[in-house]
Amino acid sequence: MIRDVLNVVTSNRGKFKEYKEKLEPYFEEIDMINLEYPEIQAGTLEEVVQYALEQLKEHSPLIIDDSGLFIESLNGFPGIYSAYVMDTIGCDGILSLMEDEKDRSARFQCVIGYLGEEKRLFKGVSEGTITGEKRGSKGFGYDPIFLPENYQRTYAEMKSEEKNRISHRGAAMEEFLDFIKIKDSY
Ligand code: IMP
Repeated sequence: MIRDVLNVVTSNRGKFKEYKEKLEPYFEEIDMINLEYPEIQAGTLEEVVQYALEQLKEHSPLIIDDSGLFIESLNGFPGIYSAYVMDTIGCDGILSLMEDEKDRSARFQCVIGYLGEEKRLFKGVSEGTITGEKRGSKGFGYDPIFLPENYQRTYAEMKSEEKNRISHRGAAMEEFLDFIKIKDSY
């Protein structure tokens, strides 16, 4: 099953690299459309993605991705504010907020919005913990402080291929691939 073009609308090269690596075998061409799409102030990642898809029709077939880090002991913070928090206090700020905190559990969530022959959302989650210090230089965003469940290395200590196999984004991409495989088998 090979489709022609897929546009990944994002300004984040790290995200694009992960999409390209995993989806490449299924598309002739995967292009990055470097565009900040309008994000509404909403309660969930799904609402943000639903709204943004409406504004991007001209770039179809496309996917967008809204992700966030939800930390248990901070009642889900930074969650939907993950981008703002990264731009302001960053990983160091999160580590300070969690100094002396025993419960370090956290989860990443990723929602992919797809606009093609129909509009669909796909979700992936990865469970883990927040480390005591930054580790690794690969990846992007909160990768240096996120230790995925059952692993001894942070996402920033993994190649993107390995991260993709276990991550929230990898899981959402699997759902997306299941969808297009079913579609194409009709
Ligand atoms: P957004 O989905 O681009 O709005 O991402 C929100 C924030 O979370 C940004 O600061 C990203 O860098 C960060 N982020 C999103 N996905 C990941 C990831 O897979 N690993 C680490 N940080 C991420």
